[in-house]
Amino acid sequence: MIRLKNEKQIDGIRTSCKLLSSMYRELIPLVKPGIQTIDIDYWVQGWIKKMGGIPVFLGYCPKKKPYPAAICISINDEVIHGIPCKRKIHEGDLVSLDCGIDLGGFISDQAISIEAGKVSDAVHKLNKVTNECLYKGIDAAKQGDRLLQISRAVEKHAKDNGYGIVEEYCGHGVGLALHEDPHVPNYPHGANPKLNNGMVIAIEPMINMGTGNVAILDDDWTVVTEDEKVSAHWEHTIAIFGNKTEILTDRLEDLLL
Ligand code: MF3
Ligand code: CO
Repeated sequence: MIRLKNEKQIDGIRTSCKLLSSMYRELIPLVKPGIQTIDIDYWVQGWIKKMGGIPVFLGYCPKKKPYPAAICISINDEVIHGIPCKRKIHEGDLVSLDCGIDLGGFISDQAISIEAGKVSDAVHKLNKVTNECLYKGIDAAKQGDRLLQISRAVEKHAKDNGYGIVEEYCGHGVGLALHEDPHVPNYPHGANPKLNNGMVIAIEPMINMGTGNVAILDDDWTVVTEDEKVSAHWEHTIAIFGNKTEILTDRLEDLLL
C-alpha cells in the first residue's frame, strides 16, 4: 500500500533530507585516497548522532543479517551495500556512498558516487551518465503520470550509452519508513501506479560499465557486478505534491562531477 504524505509530513521529510545532504557536504572532502572505509562510518555515526538523528541503515534487517553500519560504501565493482571495513580508498577508485537518516520519525535516503583522485575517462563517463539517469528519471516523475515512466527514462539513457542496468534492486517509497511501496525499478517492470499528490519516493539508478548482472558476497550484503566491471549509484529522495515534483535532498554533483 502506498502511503501518501501530507504537507506537514513532507516538511519533516524535507528537513531530514537537508540534514543528510549537509552531512555529505562535510563528508565529501574526507573521502580521499588513504582513508579506511570504517573510519568514514565512524565519522558518519558520530555526525548523525550529534545532529539528533538516527542512522537508519544501522541494524536494518530485511533478511538474515542486520546491516552493521550507518553508511554503505561500495567501491568499483561493488554496486551497493558495501560494508565499511579496514579497506583503504585508492586513487582512481569510484566510491559510492549511500546513507539515510531518521530525524524525528522522518526518513531520508540519498546516494552519491565519488571519484577518488583522478579516475579513468571511462569511469568518469559512467559516473556522469548515472547521475544524468537520475535526473532523467526525476524529470519523468510528474503528478498524474505513471511510475514506470521514470523507469523507462532511466533505462533509455543507460542503454543509449551502452551500460548495464541492475534489475534486482530498485528505488522505493520512503519517508515514514526506509522502504515503502511502491517499487521504483530502473527498467519498466511490475506495478505501474499513478504518481499521486503526496507520494515520496527514492529514485536510485545503479548502472554498470558491463552487464547488469550482479552477485552477493559471502558477507550476505555486498552486491558486486558479476563481470567485475565498475558500477555507479546516485539517489535522491523526491516528493510529488501540489502539481510539482520537488527534489528533497540537495543536488551534490556540482561538488563531484
Ligand atoms: N539505501 C538503500 C536503499 O536505497 C538501503 C540500504 S539497506 C541497508 O534502498 F541495510 F544498508 F541499510
Ligand atoms: Co534507497
